[in-house]
Amino acid sequence: MHRAAILVTGAQGQIGFELARLLSPYGDVIATDRATLDLADPDAIVAAMRGVKPALIVNAGAYTAVDRAETEPALAHAVNGRAPGIFAEEAKRLDATLIHFSTDYVFDGTRTAPYPEDAPTGPQNVYGASKLEGERAIAAAGAHALVLRTSWVYGLRGRNFLLTIRRLAAERDELTVVADQFGVPNWSHTLAEATARIVGAGLPALAARCGLYHLSCTGKATWHEFAQAIVGPAPRPRIIPIATADYPTPARRPAYGVLGTARFEATFGFALPDWRDALANCLGGPAETT
Ligand SMILES: NC(=O)c1ccc[n+]([C@@H]2O[C@H](COP(=O)([O-])OP(=O)(O)OC[C@H]3O[C@@H](n4cnc5c(N)ncnc54)[C@H](OP(=O)(O)O)[C@@H]3O)[C@@H](O)[C@H]2O)c1
Repeated sequence: MHRAAILVTGAQGQIGFELARLLSPYGDVIATDRATLDLADPDAIVAAMRGVKPALIVNAGAYTAVDRAETEPALAHAVNGRAPGIFAEEAKRLDATLIHFSTDYVFDGTRTAPYPEDAPTGPQNVYGASKLEGERAIAAAGAHALVLRTSWVYGLRGRNFLLTIRRLAAERDELTVVADQFGVPNWSHTLAEATARIVGAGLPALAARCGLYHLSCTGKATWHEFAQAIVGPAPRPRIIPIATADYPTPARRPAYGVLGTARFEATFGFALPDWRDALANCLGGPAETT
């Protein structure tokens, strides 16, 4: 039987790495990374789409260096803003479906209750603005597309908060961590499993559920609470709460980025676990291979 081609970008990234493996039951996965498909190169994207002719594109590649984006806005906008639109235009030509990931950083962070999908956006930094541009470019293309916004992604490979805290915890007696930004940590594996599950329902079912969704674990945390949960109850290192104002970064971060997931749950019929349960699974499970 003919198997659909599934083009995955960012396949060395946190979510993309997991997805490239988890999607293989549903088609022939063509896993691309920066070396094989540069998302800053529109011609390369068009050539890849027309060569592979995928039935499904999962765009997990992105410019995710939030602070560096402040000084590399052109590259961030090319990768996060323009590339998703090119995938969507090409998907429309092929009658293919696009799954794309976006971020809570499209919001301004001034709310104190979870953001629904249709809440007004207001990115506070270049990265957030570039991701919002990508969402808009996809919407403008009119393809079958699902945009999945998520937040605070971590895992046992790549660059992320969990690995940074574990490294620092091994080196220091005290860590200072921001305690006035609220969000939801999400294990890359949990996100990839949920994405594979909606793909597993079949491409026609997926195409019938196009739209913008928030895909996130439940609960809420500060970075301080997340760090404490990572190191556990041991007396050392002490995790000392600090204010955002005491930890200046090039990019401004939203103070609140909890994503309301009711639309995803109503549409697909399942919810992600509480972030603490997902973290326990991540820390207790077998090491992800690098
Ligand atoms: N990380 C988070 O906390 C977070 C939060 C909310 C939403 N998201 C979204 O979730 C999605 C997946 O993020 P992630 O956490 O898996 O990110 P990640 O681990 O940084 O993976 C992104 C991948 O994209 C690749 N990439 C960057 N520039 C590229 C280019 N020009 N051409 C080809 N590939 C390129 C990166 O390669 P290099 O390593 O070589 O740069 C990396 O392998 C993204 O859409 C992101 O915006 C992430």
